Amino acid sequence: MDITKKFLISFDTEKMSSLETDVLVIGSGVAGLRAAIESSRFGKVLIITKSKFNENNTERAQGGIAVVLSKRDSFKKHREDSLRAGKKLCDVEAVNILVKEGPARIKELLKWGINFDKEKGNFLFTREAGHCMRRILHSQGDSTGKELEKILIRKVKQNENIRILEYTYAIDLLHKEGVCFGAIVEIKGQGRKVIYAQKTIVATGGIGQLYRETTNSVVSTGCGVALAYRAGAKIIDMEFIQFHPTTLYIAGASRILISEAARGEGGVLRNKFGIKFMKKYDKEKELASRDVVARAIFNEMRDTKSAYVYLDLTHLNVEFLKKRFPYITKTCFSFGIDVKKHFIPVCPTAHYMIGGIKTNKKGETGIVNLYACGETACLGLHGANRLASNSLLEGLVFGYRAGICAGESMGKRRKAFKITNKFKDEKLKELDREDIRKSLKSLMTRFVGIERDRETLLEARKEMIFWSSYVIRRLFSIPEGWELQNMLTVAKIIQESALLRKESRGGHYRKDYPVENDMKWSGKHIEFSIKDGCRIGKI
Ligand code: SIN
Repeated sequence: MDITKKFLISFDTEKMSSLETDVLVIGSGVAGLRAAIESSRFGKVLIITKSKFNENNTERAQGGIAVVLSKRDSFKKHREDSLRAGKKLCDVEAVNILVKEGPARIKELLKWGINFDKEKGNFLFTREAGHCMRRILHSQGDSTGKELEKILIRKVKQNENIRILEYTYAIDLLHKEGVCFGAIVEIKGQGRKVIYAQKTIVATGGIGQLYRETTNSVVSTGCGVALAYRAGAKIIDMEFIQFHPTTLYIAGASRILISEAARGEGGVLRNKFGIKFMKKYDKEKELASRDVVARAIFNEMRDTKSAYVYLDLTHLNVEFLKKRFPYITKTCFSFGIDVKKHFIPVCPTAHYMIGGIKTNKKGETGIVNLYACGETACLGLHGANRLASNSLLEGLVFGYRAGICAGESMGKRRKAFKITNKFKDEKLKELDREDIRKSLKSLMTRFVGIERDRETLLEARKEMIFWSSYVIRRLFSIPEGWELQNMLTVAKIIQESALLRKESRGGHYRKDYPVENDMKWSGKHIEFSIKDGCRIGKI
């Protein structure tokens, strides 16, 4: 399968119209916005996003932001919870940075006007799986991401050094010999342009759309990972995919997240027959780690031949439910489910990409002038499994760091020079893109999903190689086509990584190797790059 192409299109930069900026940020979720705000202290910043600015996973985040702000909490406790969730694969220094720098990033947000839920002047912390105590801040009950995105966007819009271009699709990074010079983009209504940038920061979020069912926004197609991969960056830990245990399962409703905080506040899981089952799987029951709960639900669904299990909130106080989970209660109600009277049908769906573009603690990727932060980046922070509500904090802390690093290392803008790529258009037969997209999502769900084994992964590989033989080599001229090529590229890296890791750990579960094998796999990562192919080791 040819996923070694360096560009998706033919171009000659001298013949294209262009824009210039000091820093180009691709993506407008928490990490991209936070990086943009910081790097704007050093020069002009352009944020591009392929949809409207608030169409992203940040906007959808419900549960909250885990941070050490309560007097009873400590950095040590937050660090230990994060390391435990990461199943011995976390980069300890990255975890230390997250927990220690987290409070400063939250205090900034408070200065900028963010509202976290409070009672009698004190923050109301909630609890989620894997946390030894209540440490998660939330906003308007279950709309934390919306509030966060609103505050960051407002800050960005007040900043004269930052410009946002919506509906702008990054086709490829502009790169040559390990150096990045910006990106080639397609701007809706304006066509193709080169954006020359001294520094480029990729913050494109996750990959949930590679799966049939996901909590993620429609934009979460892994494009940032594919862009960076083609530019020569290393991609790491891609076998670890976090499935969220509880997504609303109602035919016709898009898969809406039912926050883990609902279990943190006492919600219980019941199978199709109304029987509680979590005790069977883990002593922490509903608050066992996400991978354990997701697999337990998957198992119950299979055993009871059902497409869902139930989340039961009926024993909780109705006023509390309305105040604490206004979005969830309203959404359920719009589908005829009164959460005080009825159980909520839920199933696990793809939620969070733990791997991504390999970076150091400052967001540097190893490609000169190319940075990555947030979900699309991987610096070993989450190990094999992300602790609930650590991701918005990651976006704030490591977005800030990437923004500073990019800003501080900026020199003078250099004169643009010519880069070209020639791509033979084979004029292949018209393609039903939507059909392949759906087939890929289905393949990933069935064969590279919550459970995988050698047989399913080899089957997935066979299909992907076949589909790629006519999708990847094609010359597309619209975002939907490039997006499909990116999705196939990233899916292939996930599938190959999952095939190579012959053990189960965190977000990677192999039916044929069901246990954590520290003897063979402790501290080991799987890394892909165009230059070196695949490497396995302590990298
Ligand atoms: C949730 O609210 O359950 C999602 C929080 C997260 O993924 O960290």
